[in-house]
Amino acid sequence: MKNVFVVGSGIMGSGIAQVCSQSGYCVSLMDINKKALGKALKKIEWSLNKLEGKNLLDEKAVNILTRLKTTDSLEKAENADIVIEAALEDVKTKHTVFKDLEHICRPDTIFGTNTSSIPITEISSILKNPERFVGIHFFNPVHQMKLVEIIKGLATSNNTVERVKKFVLAIGKEPVMVNRDQAGFIVNRINGMAFLEALRLLEKGVASVKDIDKAMRLGLGNPMGPFQLMDLVGLDVVLNARMGIYNETREPNHFPPNILRNMVKAGYLGKKTGKGFYEYK
Ligand code: 3HC
Repeated sequence: MKNVFVVGSGIMGSGIAQVCSQSGYCVSLMDINKKALGKALKKIEWSLNKLEGKNLLDEKAVNILTRLKTTDSLEKAENADIVIEAALEDVKTKHTVFKDLEHICRPDTIFGTNTSSIPITEISSILKNPERFVGIHFFNPVHQMKLVEIIKGLATSNNTVERVKKFVLAIGKEPVMVNRDQAGFIVNRINGMAFLEALRLLEKGVASVKDIDKAMRLGLGNPMGPFQLMDLVGLDVVLNARMGIYNETREPNHFPPNILRNMVKAGYLGKKTGKGFYEYK
C-alpha cells in the first residue's frame, strides 16, 4: 500500500492523516468543508513542528508535509489503496460516502471506517463488495495512542483483515482484533461504563468533577480522569457512542444520564468548544 485517502478532517481524520504521512504514505485528506480542511492542515503543521522540536520525527516536518495533500473532492480517491473514513457519526452520511467511493476506487481498495458507535455490518450493507470493508478504530490523540481496534464485519474477508493488520503495524500502531461486530467494540464498551458511572456519581452529588477525576488519576494511575477524558474526546462523541450501545442492547444501564444529554444540547462539547466539564482557553 502507498496511497491513503482519509475522509473527514476533524480531530480523528486529521490525526490519522498526520500519522500515515509520518510513516511514509502519500495521504489525501478530504473534507467538503474547506475551512475545516485549512484548520486541520494548520494543526498538523503545528503538531509536526512541535514533534520535530523534540527530536521525535525520523525526517523533517517539511518533507512529511510534501506527502500530505488536502482536497474537497472524493474523486481524488481513484488511486487510493486504502480509504479511512472519519466523517460524521451518521449512518446516512457514511452510506453516501461509500456508495460514491465504490464508483471511484479500484475493486481492491480497502474501505475502512473509524466509527466508534455504528456497526460495521450496517455501514457496509449498501456495498456490492462488503468483503473489502473493515472497522479501523483509532484513539485520540492519534499521534500518541498506540492502539487500533480492527473490527471484522459479518462480510469482511480474512484477506482484508490481514492487509489492514499489516498497514496498522506499518504506521507504528498496535492492532487488536475485534472478531464480532458489536457497538463499542472493546475499549469504548469497557471505558464507557466508567464514564456513565462517573456521570451518575456527579448527578447524585457523591463527589465533584475535580475529585472524581483526581480519584481516578491518583487511585488507578490513569493519565486522565473520566471528565477530563470526555472533554478531550468530545461530549457529542461520547453521547453518540453511548446511544449506539444502548440502541443495540436496549439495556437501561447503558442509557446516558441527563447531565450528558443536556450538556450536548447546550453545545458544551469539551475542549473543542472551549467548555465542557472544564473551561479551556
Ligand atoms: N502534536 C504534538 N504535540 C502535542 C499535540 C499534538 N497534537 N498536542 C499536545 N502536544 C504537546 C503539548 O503542547 C505539550 O508540549 P510541551 O511539553 O512542550 O508543553 C506536550 O505535547 C505534552 O502534552 P500534555 O501535557 O497534554 O500531556 P502528555 O503528553 O503527558 O499526555 C495524553 C497526553 C497522551 C493525552 C495522556 O494524558 C493520555 O494518555 N490521556 C488519555 C487519553 C485516552 O485515553 N485516549 C483515548 C480516548 S477514547 C477514544 O479516543 C475513542 C473514541 O472512539 C472516542
